[in-house]
Parts: sequence; C-alpha cells; structure tokens
Amino acid sequence: MRTFVVIGQTASASEDFSLDDLPGSSGRLDVLLRCLRAALLFSHGLRPDARVYLVLRGGPQAPRVLKVDGATCKFLRPDERSLATLVKKTLAAAAQARGGGFVELRPGLALAAGDLECVHVELGEAALYVLEPGAADIRTQDLAPGNQVFFVGDHAGFDEATRAELAALSARPLGVGPLSLHSDDVVALVSNELDRRADTAGSARS
Ligand SMILES: C[S@@+](CC[C@H](N)C(=O)[O-])C[C@H]1O[C@@H](n2cnc3c(N)ncnc32)[C@H](O)[C@@H]1O
Repeated sequence: MRTFVVIGQTASASEDFSLDDLPGSSGRLDVLLRCLRAALLFSHGLRPDARVYLVLRGGPQAPRVLKVDGATCKFLRPDERSLATLVKKTLAAAAQARGGGFVELRPGLALAAGDLECVHVELGEAALYVLEPGAADIRTQDLAPGNQVFFVGDHAGFDEATRAELAALSARPLGVGPLSLHSDDVVALVSNELDRRADTAGSARS
C-alpha cells in the first residue's frame, strides 16, 4: 500500500469556497486536489493500492483531514472542478464533525476532525518518507517493502513545526530531483517510480 499525506497549510477545511475561483477562495485547495488526482488516478483507472490524506489547515473548521481510499472510492473524476465539487459536498455533509477519528461520508471518502495525529493512528507498520527537494534521490534509494507513506508539502512547503513533527516520527527525507517542483508533479514522479519498481518485481517473479 502506498499512502500520500499532503499537508495544506491554508487549504480550506470548510465548504465555503467558490468552484469558479478555487485558487483564490479555497486557500489553495487546488494544489491538494491535483495531488489527489496524481496519487489515485491513472488513465481510465483508479489505483486500488493507493490512499491519500489531505490535511486541511485553513478556515474556521480547521484542522480536518480528508481520507480518500483508492480501493473503495467510486466515481472519482480527473478534472479539478469535479474533485473540488466532491470535496465541497463531503465537507458540507460533515458540518458538525467532532473528534473521534474518521467517519466515512461517501464510499472511500472519510473525514476526521483533527490534524496529523488523526493520520498517525492509522498508519500502523509503515516506512515513512518526507519529500524534500535536494534530499536523497528516490532513484538511488532502496525503499522498505510493505506499506510506504510519503509526506508532501503544499505550495508553501512545510512549516517548521511540521518538519519537527515529521523528524520526530523518523520520516526519512527523499527527493525526486534537484529542483523544487509543484507538489502534484512530485506525487506523479513518486507514483511512477513505485509503478516501475512493482512492474520490475512482477516481471522477475514470472
Ligand atoms: C512547491 S514545493 C514547496 C516549495 C516551498 N517554497 C518550499 O520552499 O518548501 C511543494 C512540496 O513538494 C515537495 N517537493 C518539491 N520539489 C521536490 C523535490 N525535488 N523532491 C522531493 N520533494 C519535492 C515538497 O514536499 C514540497 O514541500
């Protein structure tokens, strides 16, 4: 299982954003939605072995975490407006959400009131990686088998408190090249690397 945790420092945790001006009205939720697409969708398909947590730290309902599970999610479309509509409806449906962990509101979509701690309790045995420009190149690194979790920053990167929190969890820094890239491009590159490795492992077995 591959898991991406995207931390939106200003991304709206409430439904009061405009679909006609997503970047301007949602605290850059659009950045997180593109990550969601890159992590879960390929051409005409949904990855059943992928899961995404969007950490929403913006607005009056923050913090909240939206979990999207590729194994059980239905009708996920690749365009940003459709994804934004789905998230808007899900956030609205949970207007009164209070503590107590994730509540499934639609197939494969669950919401929790809280911050990264809601994610931690779900991770179980997993290798943790924090994606950072200039860190050890994923192409040259062995990744632990089994469950892998990748933490990704938004347009503003990670704040210091989050960096410290991830370091305390012993998340290993990992890079996808020398330039600072857009978050969704990083998710696409990591996904591609994992696909290639899975394919190579499959060919070696057959
Ligand atoms: C647009 S970048 C953040 C830029 C922000 N100005 C900063 O200095 O951190 C968004 C996120 O993508 C990931 N990222 C960007 N480039 C990367 C790279 N070359 N390797 C690994 N992760 C990268 C990081 O998680 C980063 O927080």
